[in-house]
Amino acid sequence: MSGSLIDGKAEAARLRTQIADEAQAFAAKHGLKPGLTVIIVGDNPASRAYVRTKAKMAEQASINGTLVELPEATTTEALLAEVERCNQDAAVHGILVQLPLPDHIDEASVLDAIDPVKDVDGFHPVNVGKLFSTQKSLSDDLLVPCTPYGCLQMLKNIHGDGLSGMNAVVLGRSNIVGKPMAMLLLTANCTVTIAHSRTQNLAAVCRSADILVAAVGRPEMVPGDWVKPGATVIDVGINRVPSEDGKGKLVGDVDFASAQPVAGHITPVPGGVGPMTVACLLRNTLVAARNQAG
Ligand code: GUN
Repeated sequence: MSGSLIDGKAEAARLRTQIADEAQAFAAKHGLKPGLTVIIVGDNPASRAYVRTKAKMAEQASINGTLVELPEATTTEALLAEVERCNQDAAVHGILVQLPLPDHIDEASVLDAIDPVKDVDGFHPVNVGKLFSTQKSLSDDLLVPCTPYGCLQMLKNIHGDGLSGMNAVVLGRSNIVGKPMAMLLLTANCTVTIAHSRTQNLAAVCRSADILVAAVGRPEMVPGDWVKPGATVIDVGINRVPSEDGKGKLVGDVDFASAQPVAGHITPVPGGVGPMTVACLLRNTLVAARNQAG
């Protein structure tokens, strides 16, 4: 048996086409395109490349994408002032502040300052609270963190209502991925375990998973013998490691070579979760624009 590849790139392209149609319909109705402002502080080349992709993909989906690039030395106060300017700008429906921020910036106060209706990352405590208090099905107008939302879409495409009752293990407990992922799987009626670096018998816990979501940021940490035969494996990791040609290469948190033969379905890195994250950001921008238009 060899796990079939989950083509996140193709799925994301389909989603972006659908969003572009809906964004055009929004513009025709309301006289302005949905608008997304992405703010980045500092010079991290990987983050800079990533936010440029976000802004470019927005433009291609008929969304006004604006990139605000601020220097490393930006103060918390200056960043808060920029966020406030976006909060007040009616043409900006979605605000994303790229993380991580430089250490001297108070990240929590910045995330708290984003108007919850414009919080396309779903990181504001109001939106986190709404997700965590969802009882039954997820509301269409909720702003849900993009990466876990993209993972859920891929899982629903494979399993549909069959997710109900499955054992899901989320490896990693971050606010960006692990915790919201666990909540989303719960709304899909999975039995959810959040595992992390202190979890005992981590291999056995992972091997109990029908659905394994790896989001720890450690290159190829999960070997094939941690994967239950036939399981669906979603690899959120994007780790740059040295390669023979000296250019470096991207690998996930899962050791793809040993895991693919065991898994039922598996995402590649790159080309799995990454493109879906960007597509879900555009989805959230459209949702935010609709919520603001009433
Ligand atoms: N850094 C890595 N992933 C993300 C994300 O989904 N949103 C933001 N704002 N920063 C990130």
